[in-house]
Amino acid sequence: MCGIVGYVGTKKALPIIVKGLEALEYRGYDSAGIAYVENNHIQIIKKEGRIANLQEHLPDSPSTIGIGHTRWATHGEASYQNAHPHQVGKFTIVHNGIIENYQELKKVLEQENYVMKSDTDTEVACALLDYLYREERDIQKTIDKATKLLKGSYAFGILCEDDPESIYAIRCSSPLIVATKEQEQFIASDVPAILNDTNEYFLLDDFDLAVLRKDHVSFYHYGKEIQKEKIIFEGTVESSQKEGFPHFMLKEIYEQPQIVQNTIRFYFDGTKESLDNSLPNLEPYQSIHIVACGSAYHAGLVARTLIEEIVGIPVTCEIASEYRYKKVFYDSHTLVIVISQSGETADTLASLRKANADGIDTLAIVNVVGSSIAREAKQVLYTKAGCEIAVATTKAYTAQLAILSLLTLKLACIHHTLQEDEWLEIKEQLRTLPKEMENLILSKQYEEIAKQIYQQEDIFYLGRRLDYSISLEGALKLKEISYINSVSYPAGELKHGTISLIEDKTPVIGILTDANVMEKTMSNLEETSARGANVFAITTEPINTMKTILIPKKHLLWQSLLTIIPLQLLAYEIAKLRGSDIDKPRNLAKSVTVE
Ligand code: G6P
Repeated sequence: MCGIVGYVGTKKALPIIVKGLEALEYRGYDSAGIAYVENNHIQIIKKEGRIANLQEHLPDSPSTIGIGHTRWATHGEASYQNAHPHQVGKFTIVHNGIIENYQELKKVLEQENYVMKSDTDTEVACALLDYLYREERDIQKTIDKATKLLKGSYAFGILCEDDPESIYAIRCSSPLIVATKEQEQFIASDVPAILNDTNEYFLLDDFDLAVLRKDHVSFYHYGKEIQKEKIIFEGTVESSQKEGFPHFMLKEIYEQPQIVQNTIRFYFDGTKESLDNSLPNLEPYQSIHIVACGSAYHAGLVARTLIEEIVGIPVTCEIASEYRYKKVFYDSHTLVIVISQSGETADTLASLRKANADGIDTLAIVNVVGSSIAREAKQVLYTKAGCEIAVATTKAYTAQLAILSLLTLKLACIHHTLQEDEWLEIKEQLRTLPKEMENLILSKQYEEIAKQIYQQEDIFYLGRRLDYSISLEGALKLKEISYINSVSYPAGELKHGTISLIEDKTPVIGILTDANVMEKTMSNLEETSARGANVFAITTEPINTMKTILIPKKHLLWQSLLTIIPLQLLAYEIAKLRGSDIDKPRNLAKSVTVE
């Protein structure tokens, strides 16, 4: 996601800021920019695309102070205008986070004759600083006052024309550190950005204001000077990127509540109008084809059930390597949706090209901005998962589920298949979803279950309907990183052959969240238990006769976002006990650009 780096010291600032931004590249971004002070004037250079592109346009400036940013588009597309830094009047800022009340503030500021050049919430925050400063004439008081008016999350790096030798930094719910090294001071949104220069830093707490000058940093909390405790970072650059997590996969699992929230908020503010405005027009379509590979295909299977159940239009979901070569039946009322984290998967790209060539409307759900699939699809929706490093996808998959749920919601509005009370229930449930995801992630029970089963060589997953689609992803996670032969079956199908593989202590994991088929799946689990299986149930209802992982019950639209979490963490804990290379499993690639 977005990255912030600032420097004030004795050396040339631009190369140091660029290096810091590069260290944050793994987070993902789509534009980059730097503001620096030369001859007491603030200059801004920003570019769409990679940092290398920005670097080509940077002068060899003697400036020793500046702030830089890599932006992952949230408010407004990836463009020059929307890239940071933003400048309004005397203030220039870089920002991570989301200002939730920016529309409200924008209206007020526009009445005060501020004209916004970008679509961003950041420019509004910058205008607010300039506006407040007109009256206050004191930079610190201005920033403090702004924090009382801004709602949401932010980390700001701030330059003010009236104090060209200082960087001001403040945060609320978005990480920001201040690092120090004799005559050089830094701000950064993440530790790797400073590790080329120093391993000593201070962690800002919410509303702590840091003022950085060449030879000194001072900290204030609403006007009162405070002392902060210095932290010494003892790991490597790579371990710092993991932010203390032993593996990227675990870090990415932990990021999911925030990412799902960001992805949903980006497209949906709780109103039907926002779905209308931010998602493509779906009115012409009477059927949908979803095409993808691996986990993205599994996300598509979930969407198929959601759309068929909630909207009532036919959906096919196909593996791209099959779809590209098969006879396909579609017409001008069909929408082909391709799903891909990388946006480069060869078979998915080929399927997209096939539909494009046949003149069929295509929509891509993609994580990597500007990737081939994103560019070639007629329309694109980006998942807001940030850069995913672990080969086994987790956060990109849940972000795909989040977007697919929103598309379902929009289709349901078009087809009038939701009663008002169901619409309200769906909206209301969104409020608690991130917290419920977080609680499931923090639960300690997965390690204990993993200890009971990690030495087995076969593990079976059973579920029906939506639960079956999720169990496919759970089984894939496990085989990817633990190398255990894990397979998923529709629960009713097991007895038609595969049940012969069940022996004493064979682990069987049942998924039971769907009240309509819960009892049926339970009977199937009992059948395996009667043959000696070691059965575990991931369930929304307590079951006395089995070992269970209890998860909250949600509307069908959101349920999968919770159900998948125990499966991801179970796979992770089992792989850890087996000592496998979790982030880079054998034989697998993050982006598969061959057939
Ligand atoms: C590879 C990855 C999987 C991923 C699949 C599709 O096999 O290892 O995790 O689900 O490709 O990738 P895509 O980038 O198209 O989502």
